Parts: sequence; C-alpha cells; structure tokens
Amino acid sequence: MNTIPESDRVIIFDTTLRDGEQSPGASMNLEEKLRIAEALESMGIDVIEAGFPIASNGDFEAVNEVAKVIKESTVCGLARAGIKDIDRAAEALRPAERKRIHTFIATSPLHMKFKLQMSAEDVHQAVQDSVARARGHVEDVEWSCEDGTRSERDFLCRVIETAIDAGASTINIPDTVGYTIPSEYTSLIEEIRNRVPNIDKARISVHCHNDLGLAVANSLAGVAAGARQVECTINGLGERAGNAALEEIVMALRTRADVMPYGTSVRTENITKASRLVSTITGFAVQPNKAIVGANAFAHESGIHQDGMLKNAETYEIMTPESVGLTQSNLVLGKHSGRHAFRKKLSELGFDLGDNAVQDVFVRFKDLADKKKEVYDEDIIALVDDEVRVNDRIRFLTLQVVAGSKGPQTADLELEIDGEVKATHASGDGPVDATFNAIKALFPHGANLQLYQVHAVTEGTDAQAEVTVRLDEDGKTVNGQGADTDTLVASARAYVNALNKLLVKREKTAPAAMSA
Ligand code: KIV
Ligand code: ZN
Repeated sequence: MNTIPESDRVIIFDTTLRDGEQSPGASMNLEEKLRIAEALESMGIDVIEAGFPIASNGDFEAVNEVAKVIKESTVCGLARAGIKDIDRAAEALRPAERKRIHTFIATSPLHMKFKLQMSAEDVHQAVQDSVARARGHVEDVEWSCEDGTRSERDFLCRVIETAIDAGASTINIPDTVGYTIPSEYTSLIEEIRNRVPNIDKARISVHCHNDLGLAVANSLAGVAAGARQVECTINGLGERAGNAALEEIVMALRTRADVMPYGTSVRTENITKASRLVSTITGFAVQPNKAIVGANAFAHESGIHQDGMLKNAETYEIMTPESVGLTQSNLVLGKHSGRHAFRKKLSELGFDLGDNAVQDVFVRFKDLADKKKEVYDEDIIALVDDEVRVNDRIRFLTLQVVAGSKGPQTADLELEIDGEVKATHASGDGPVDATFNAIKALFPHGANLQLYQVHAVTEGTDAQAEVTVRLDEDGKTVNGQGADTDTLVASARAYVNALNKLLVKREKTAPAAMSA
C-alpha cells in the first residue's frame, strides 16, 4: 500500500537508456535495453526514458520495443523542438500503455546564440509550437529548458509559463553542464515556483549532471525547494561525469526521511541487481568506494568498526545491506545437481529459456561445477549471459594457450564462422594478445580495441572471470562480455561477443547520429 501523500511523492525518472547511453562507450543493443527496462520496471521506476527516437533507427526501435513490453512504468521518448522529432517520438511510443513525450530546447544566451543561432523570441515561439505539437499526440508532455541553470531568469519564467499554457505537465530544469551549486539551484526552483503564474498546473523536475560532483546534492536541493521529479541514472551513468545516481537519490530520501519527508515508489531491494546489470552490459565498472553500490559500501575493515558492528550494526551502518538487495551470495547447485533443479534455479533467477538453450547452459554448468567447488547465483547468471546468443555468426569453440615467462606466447583457436569450423595458430605479446590475434586471423576486421577489463564474478582463485571487451569501428562502439574460470577463454568469448554485436550494428543503417 502506498502511504505517501501525492504532494510529497517524488517521481523517479530514469534516463539510463537515453542520457546514460550518451556516455562514450556505453552503447547497448536492443536486447540489453529491454533487459534494463524490465529491471527498472520491476524496481518500481515511475518513468523510463527509453531513447531519442529521431537519433537513429536503433533508438527508434528501442523506444518502440520498450513501449511494447513495459506496462507499469511510463515510457518516455526524447524529441528536440521540431515537428519531425516530435512525430517520430510519438510514432515510437504508440504501443505504450503509459507514454510521455519529452521535448526540449536550449534557453541560455550562450546556447541560443552559438548552438541554435536563434533569437530569444524564436525560441519562445518554438516552445509554444513544440509542446502544442506533442500534446496533439499524447496527454503527458514534459518540457525541458536545456542549460536551464545558465539561462536568464526573466526569460526562463516566461518560457515556462508558455510551455505550461501549451499543455506541458512536467517542467524540467536541467543543469546540463553540471555548473550549479545546491544553494543556487534551490533559489532557482523557488523563484520559478514564486514567479511563474501557472506553475501549480505542472510538476517541477530536476536533471543534474555531475561535472563538479554535485549532481545528487543539487537534485536533493531541488526537491527541498519543491521539485517533485528527479531525473537520474543507474550508477550515475551519463555524458561526461554522468548524471545524478538513482541509487544515491533514492537511498538518501529513504535514509534521511526525517529531514527530507518525501517518498518514492522504488523497491530499493532491487538496486544492487540493477546496478550490476547496467555495469555488466556497459562494461562501466562501479568504483569500489561508490556510495550504495560499490563493493566496499557495506564492508567494515578496521577492528574498531568491526567491534562496533558486532555490538550493534547501527554504530557504523546507516542503512542495511539488505535494504539495497545485498544479501549473502546463495550457494546454488553442485556437480550432482540434476537438470530439473537447474531449470528451477534458472526460473528463480528470472531466465525463461527454450529447451536447447537450457541444455547448452546445463552442459557448461556441469563443466563449471567440476572445476569449481561452489557455484553461486552470480556464476549461473554469468553463464547464461554468455551462452544465450542464438543469432551469433561467430561462435567460440576451443582455445589452447601457451603462456608464461619463457615465450613466445601462442594461441590455438577454433571458431565457427557462419556455420563453418575454422582453426588457426597465432602468437602475440602475451597470451591475451595471442588470443586476439588468432581471432583477427580467423575473422579479419578493422575494429579497434578500446577496453579490456577483467573482474571476478565471485570470490576465490577458482572464481569465474568475467571479461569485457569494447570495440570501436567507424564510431560504432560495442561492449562484449564473456565468462569462464579460465580468464583467456573468457577473453576470447568476450571478444567474439563484441564482434557479433558489431556485425549486427553494421547491418543497421542509421541516419546522422546526434546527441542531446
Ligand atoms: O542535460 C540535459 O539538458 C538533457 C536534456 C535533454 C534534458 O539531457
Ligand atoms: Zn542530461
């Protein structure tokens, strides 16, 4: 039962799939975006900004597919202040049960003069026209004044009034370049509330970037000043230094409800899972000391702290690990576990796989259980993520590597490419280099390796390695993942996964990319 009075309820608007994806290197494919959207919905997120439909066919498809599957959350599409943008957003959102068009235009003197090359009067007119156009398509329209915190306040109040008159029910005040500070943002939101005559007909929203590390503080200052929607991303993903981190906003509101008496509908127990999902998909590791979701966020190292914790956890813990969904890893199955138990585990973990896929993952699970004493939920998740790639043109088969200090390091690799088995032998500057050279010999390509990252799925030297490989080809970036107890096998799988994603991207033709 929701007991928060509507006036104190803060709408959580997640823009991981739009502003988050604008982080260089954080590109996600359609299937990955759908998984994130579903995780956000199960977490109780009110609004999911799924993309910028005019930006590319891929963005259009993502918003359109998210609109088909998401039922509880509102699905939102971004549009600049032009007819084509707005109509394209409306088309992408058509299947959504709850839909919102989010249209924006810059209002600061700097952006109007140099970027838009429009007069203030033309911008004012564009606000009226774009919001009215969006309202012709949907009931729920959000309007944003890009670079709002560097805009002149008289002009800002005037355009906000116009946007509300034209039908916008959410007015978002972005700190686009992460420039403001909490006291200044508070006064800006207060001034808007005091000066815009029709402001009571709209909800004020905050959208803060983290260039000075103030995105969360600024967002909370905005809420204290009367904003009732916060735009944020999982793990603070986003352009440059990122956006306000969703998990920090939500947990600050929950933990300090004594001084911030507002509520959200977020099921905070889902936070850790969502953070891991976004980090795995994008290859953006979460720093260990990151608030709420860092590996050390609930770790107590010093003797004094441990002693205090044993006596009363509240001595050093302001929120419980369970409140963000951090529980002891579940020991799952062993090498004697049967197919039935394995299938049940998959379903508990939320995987709905066909018979063939279950069989393939089961074989790899048995293999893993032979090598590794204990198999955890995280291991199974990594295995499934790695295995269920049905349409891949390139498939990893086997790898034999010679490593060590004597050199040369070499790799014997077998891949299946378009149904044909191919093998090669290659050397390199280290075993990883030899492995990647072997892949290049079997499947020549011009993509550049941008990131190679390894992390252990669980603890111990027998843990599976989860490798992320980021490739870039002509400005198209993809992240591949692979998991195995052998780091080199995981590396080969990750590289192959990235190549398969690149092949899918190559097939899709996109009009000129653009960013907001
Ligand atoms: O930062 C920004 O100004 C934006 C707008 C499009 C809302 O992302
Ligand atoms: Zn932004």
